[in-house]
Amino acid sequence: MPTNDAVALSLAGLSKEFGGLCAVDGVSLDVGPGERRAIIGPNGAGKTTLFSLISGETRPTGGRISLFGRDVTRLAPHRRAALGLARTYQITNLFPRLTALENCLLAVQALTSAKFHLHRPLSRYPAFHDRARAVLEAVGLGDKAEEAVRNLSHGEQRQLEIALSLAGAPRLLLLDEPTAGLSPAESHAMTALLKNLDPAITLLVIEHDMDVAFALTDRITVLHYGKVVADGLAQDVKANALVQEIYLGTS
Ligand SMILES: Nc1ncnc2c1ncn2[C@@H]1O[C@H](COP(=O)(O)OP(=O)(O)O)[C@@H](O)[C@H]1O
Ligand SMILES: [Mg+2]
Repeated sequence: MPTNDAVALSLAGLSKEFGGLCAVDGVSLDVGPGERRAIIGPNGAGKTTLFSLISGETRPTGGRISLFGRDVTRLAPHRRAALGLARTYQITNLFPRLTALENCLLAVQALTSAKFHLHRPLSRYPAFHDRARAVLEAVGLGDKAEEAVRNLSHGEQRQLEIALSLAGAPRLLLLDEPTAGLSPAESHAMTALLKNLDPAITLLVIEHDMDVAFALTDRITVLHYGKVVADGLAQDVKANALVQEIYLGTS
């Protein structure tokens, strides 16, 4: 089936039950190409589960998912990745003893179907190397290429995770709490980095920090007990009484 670029991501009545718990409960959502959308909501609202459904790591108990106009509801995660989907996780997934550049090289190599010889060092593949350098530069870590990951600051490690997610040149990027655990200065650097990503990349960001969500995106979707309870322009969502009550705790 051909893909269609009029809509990047479309969810229709998407649900996931764990035993008796409905973690994601009939979520319908359309995200246009190049859009930047924040997903907010209290802990346990179903945000991460929603990402796992979109990426294919979790199977829905109901509803449909399409990427670029193509129904991917039953497609394996690697096939969704091949359509241009990438995600990051709440938990760090780096090789601490390898350098920043080596981590990027591994990510680039893992995403290519090109056959290569195991006895030949990865660094001998110039296209991989160029791509790895490019994603490091894209997150502002060009000058840390030769640094071992364990010597990078926490903020830089989170930036490196963004670099890895860019390895396959994604068209739709899902970021799960990119500023979690960062100092205010690191969070600021991360926000700037995300704002500077290629505007062609459609971005869905789960963000705990409302200020970051507002800085990054125009449009916000609020999840509560697995349901979309508000969805719209940041200003409208901010003013929504229900949102203030359940999320901002200002009832
Ligand atoms: N694999 C799982 N098995 C059982 N329950 C789960 C699983 N994953 C998540 N949940 C539950 O689903 C709800 C939503 O979790 P999650 O998607 O992680 O929320 P959020 O990311 O918004 O904090 C929570 O109540 C959580 O305990
Ligand atoms: Mg989560």
